[in-house]
Amino acid sequence: MCSNFFIGFGFLLLCNGIIASPRIDPLVETKVGLIRGLTASDGDYSMFLGIPFGVVDETNPFGPSTPYPKFENTFEAYDDSAICPQIEEFNNTLVGSLDCLHLNIYVPKSATSQNRVPVLVWIYGGGFSIGFSGRYLYGPKFLVKNDIILVTINYRLGPYGFMCLGTPEVPGNQGLKDQLLALRWINNNIESFGGDVNKITIMGESAGGISVDLHLYSAQETLFKSVILQSGTAFLPGTLTEPKPELSLKLSENLGFTTDDVSEALTFLSSIDPHLIIASASTVDRFWPCIENQFDNTETFITDYPVNMEIPKVRNMPILIGFNDNEMITHYANRDTEFFEMHNGIFAERLNSGFNFDADTLLEMEMFVRHFYIGDEKITEELKFVLADMLSDFGYNYPTVRSIANYIKNRASNIYHYVFSYNGGRNFVKRKNNVTIGGAAHADEIGYLFDVSFWHEKPELHDQLILDRMTTMWANFVKYSNPTPQITELLPVRWEPINEGSPYYYLDINSELKLERRPFHNRMAFWELFYNLNKKYVTGYREY
Ligand SMILES: *[C@@H]1O[C@H](CO)[C@@H](O)[C@H](O)[C@H]1NC(C)=O
Ligand SMILES: *[C@@H]1O[C@H](CO)[C@@H](O)[C@H](O)[C@H]1NC(C)=O
Repeated sequence: MCSNFFIGFGFLLLCNGIIASPRIDPLVETKVGLIRGLTASDGDYSMFLGIPFGVVDETNPFGPSTPYPKFENTFEAYDDSAICPQIEEFNNTLVGSLDCLHLNIYVPKSATSQNRVPVLVWIYGGGFSIGFSGRYLYGPKFLVKNDIILVTINYRLGPYGFMCLGTPEVPGNQGLKDQLLALRWINNNIESFGGDVNKITIMGESAGGISVDLHLYSAQETLFKSVILQSGTAFLPGTLTEPKPELSLKLSENLGFTTDDVSEALTFLSSIDPHLIIASASTVDRFWPCIENQFDNTETFITDYPVNMEIPKVRNMPILIGFNDNEMITHYANRDTEFFEMHNGIFAERLNSGFNFDADTLLEMEMFVRHFYIGDEKITEELKFVLADMLSDFGYNYPTVRSIANYIKNRASNIYHYVFSYNGGRNFVKRKNNVTIGGAAHADEIGYLFDVSFWHEKPELHDQLILDRMTTMWANFVKYSNPTPQITELLPVRWEPINEGSPYYYLDINSELKLERRPFHNRMAFWELFYNLNKKYVTGYREY
C-alpha cells in the first residue's frame, strides 16, 4: 500500500511496511510505533509535530499524568497546535484542552542512524500559567540549521500543572512531572530520529529556566548531559511554597461549590470544564511549584527548598546560564504618574516574597534596600530604571549568582555565563509591549533563538547577525559543551567559563561580543551581603 503525499514542492512516496531512513522520508519507527512527519519548507529538516507523550487522567486531571500508550497505527505527526488550558498571551483568549501533552521534534537532514546528532530540548516559560511549544512562537529553523535536533515540549499550567494539595492524588508539581515524562519519552525514542541519547541538553527561559533548575534538584533520574538556563533559576524568591490545599477550596467556591473538604472540592473541580477552571483560577492565586509530601508508590519531584540542598547531579556538568541586562524594564515602561504614586510598597512586597521577616526586621531591611537603590527619593517615573534594576536584581540577576555559586560548590564543570544586552528589531517582549527604552528585557532573547513565525518578516541584517551568533553558540554548547570551541569570523571572541577559583567571566552579548567579568558587581555585592545577613530568614531555610 503506497500513498502519494504532497510535501513542500514535491511528491514523496510513502509505503506502509517499508521503513525508509529518516534521511529521505520522514517516517520513523520508534519504540512506541511508527511516526510519520513532514518535510519542512523553510530548511533542510523534517518535522514531527504534536506527538503525544502523556495522558492526563480524566477522573483526576489535577493529578500526575501517565505515559501515552503505543500507537496501533502510524501516528501522523502533522499538528503542533496543542496547547494546555490557559489564557494565552497573544489574543488574550481562553484556549486549550487537557489532550495537550504533546512534543515536537525537528530533525536536520544530516541526522541518521550512522550520524546521530546532539539534542536540545526546549521548555517554555510563561510563569507556569501560560505557554505552548508550537512554531507560532518557537519556530526551529535557526537552531536546527546547526545540525542539532530540537525538541519542544508542552506541560500543564496553572491549577492543572501546579495544584498542590499535599495528598497522593494531587501531590503537586504535576507540570514538572509532565516535563519529566517528556524527557523519558525523548530518552527512549530519540535515537530512532537520529538523535544522540548521550548528548541531550535541556534548556528553558523564565519559568522554563526555573524548571530546568528544578530538574537538577529533583529526586528523579538525570535524563540530560547539560543544561541552559535563561533568566530563571530555582532561587527566584517565592518559587516554591508549602502545599496550598486552601486554593482548591477557594477555586471550588468560586465555581459555586462551597466545602471545606479538599477531596470533595477535587471531585467537583474534576467535573468542571477546563476553560471555566482557568478563568476562575486567575482570580484565586497563582499555582506554582511546591514542596511535596512523600507517599509510598507516588513519584516525588522535589521535597525540600534548594536553599537547603546539595545538587549532586551537576557534578562535571557543563552549564550555560545568564540573564538580560534590563529584565524588568517593561514593568515600568509606559506607566502613568498614579502607578508610581501607588508603588511605595514595592520594596517590602518583594522582600516578603522571599524572606520571613518579623515586622521590625522588615522595616529595617526595607530601609537598607530603599537607601541602596533610591536613597531618600520619592518614587516617581524618573526612577524607573533604578526600580527596574531592583526588581531585576531581586528576581533574576542575584538568583542567577546564587545558582552559579551552588553549581560551583557542587563541582559543575564549566559554567558559561552571559548577559544579553542587545536592543534590536526582534527583542521579543519589548516589541510585543511596544517598549523602546532600555537594553534587553525579560524574554527578549527569544527572538534571537527562534523563528517567531507570527512576525512573518525576515530578520534585518544586523538582527540576523545576533541571531546567527546566539544560535551558533547555543548549538555549539549542545554539541561540544563549549559555545566557542574555536575563533571564527562569526564568533571572534572566546567565551571563557567560570570554574572554581577562576575569574567570574561572562559574555556580554550585544552588537559586539565582549568577555567581561562579574556583571553588576556593586549591586550583586549588596545582595550577597544582604543574604548573608538574613540567611535564616530566607523562605524555607532550615537549620540543621
Ligand atoms: C491569535 O489570533 C490569530 C488571528 O485569529 C491566530 O492566527 C493565531 O493563531 C492566534 N494565536 C494564538 C496563540 O492562539
Ligand atoms: C507604540 O508606541 C508608539 C510611540 O510610543 C506609538 O506611536 C504607537 O502607536 C504604539 N503602537 C502600538 C501598537 O501600541
